[in-house]
Amino acid sequence: MSTLVVVGAQWGDEGKGKVVDAVAAEADVVARFAGGNNAGHTLVVDGRTLVTHLIPSGCMYPGTRCVLGAGMVIDPDVLLHEIETLRALGLLVHDELRVSLHAHVIFPFHRQLDALREERATQSGAQIGTTKRGIGPAYEAKAARRGIRVADLLHPERLRERLEQNLAAVAPECERLGARIEGGVQQWLAQADAWARWLAPMTCDAGALCHAAIVAGQRVLFEGAQGALLDVDHGTYPYVTSSSTIAGGVCTGIGIGPTAIDEVWGISKAYATRVGAGPFPTKLVDATGNRLRELGAEFGATTGRPRDCGWLDLPALRHAARLSGMTGLCITKLDVLAALGKVEICVAYEDGIDPGCDGLAHAVPRLQSCPGWDDPDVVPRLRLARTLEALPAVARAYLDTIAAAIEVPIALVSVGASREQTIAVRRPFDPA
Ligand code: IMP
Repeated sequence: MSTLVVVGAQWGDEGKGKVVDAVAAEADVVARFAGGNNAGHTLVVDGRTLVTHLIPSGCMYPGTRCVLGAGMVIDPDVLLHEIETLRALGLLVHDELRVSLHAHVIFPFHRQLDALREERATQSGAQIGTTKRGIGPAYEAKAARRGIRVADLLHPERLRERLEQNLAAVAPECERLGARIEGGVQQWLAQADAWARWLAPMTCDAGALCHAAIVAGQRVLFEGAQGALLDVDHGTYPYVTSSSTIAGGVCTGIGIGPTAIDEVWGISKAYATRVGAGPFPTKLVDATGNRLRELGAEFGATTGRPRDCGWLDLPALRHAARLSGMTGLCITKLDVLAALGKVEICVAYEDGIDPGCDGLAHAVPRLQSCPGWDDPDVVPRLRLARTLEALPAVARAYLDTIAAAIEVPIALVSVGASREQTIAVRRPFDPA
């Protein structure tokens, strides 16, 4: 096996950073295929914590090639800041980063539009709760065939035409929303010229690069962003992001065929969280939810917003497993759930509602309580466990319940924030 996809199985923030970090250590290539700087991975380098929003976690490992795929939307200012921060730490100094010529570029007017729309929608209570990074407007321009690709930055005449087209489309909407568009074609061209100077040497055909790596027997990790329930086609629409977050997104977002994918690991917290608006059947709006937020430090890595917290939702997880064809399941933050001392789990929805048919919008969860978690021994034993066998019986039973319900075996369990607090059940890139 040489290719592995790692995707979120909930609404993002599943703790992908830690899992991907562990897996990236064994990869030759780490590629992102969707989203932009709406994502955020917390990395610890030499005791210093930093958050990357665009560059995949492979950047931690010198010599590992990092690829930004065609399905992404890239804010070059954010990318440059990340490159400079990582280089100052001695990382990414050997030509490790490659950017697809087909990835789309976020300009300041995309961000402005995103923020203006959210502000207006908030007045009527209809906001999505976007990250205001310009993600939606950039994907919208792509679908409208006026998007600006990395390749366009290298062709000023083509770029001017495309920018004029965008100005004509965006300026009237900004005015309707009570603002003047910031900048203009001349200013954006100058900005694009500055970006092109440092970006040009990094450009590539990401599909061809990944294909060549696969053919050469290298290990390629495809790193997902956000989660299945935020997928633009299959998530809780319209409360979703604007890209394909599920494993299928790898094929379109990188440019390889489905037969090139060997394994798909889905990541879920031991409970559930969501940030931004939209359905969340198991949300806890009580002291238990607040406690879970405190214990799990559930605040967005990108926006700092407090996340809503709730019990693990098995029907939704089963749905996510099907959407991505998961072959392994990674459960994170089991220690946080344990510290709560009280655990419930959603085993079904009343009236047999199907999450796939927009059911999450009106699902009433049937909760089952899981006794035994209040034993004071559970947390310390759990944090020290490095095998499934070493886990306290209640924790093992909980994992067994999840794996049986979604019919996917456990690949990895995280029992604490540090790299060592991991139960690696399966090795990445090993045969199943
Ligand atoms: P956008 O991707 O900024 O357009 O935001 C659309 C929705 O996706 C909002 O509800 C965001 O809170 C959510 N979202 C986007 N990226 C992330 C993420 O990385 N983690 C969690 N939620 C996200």
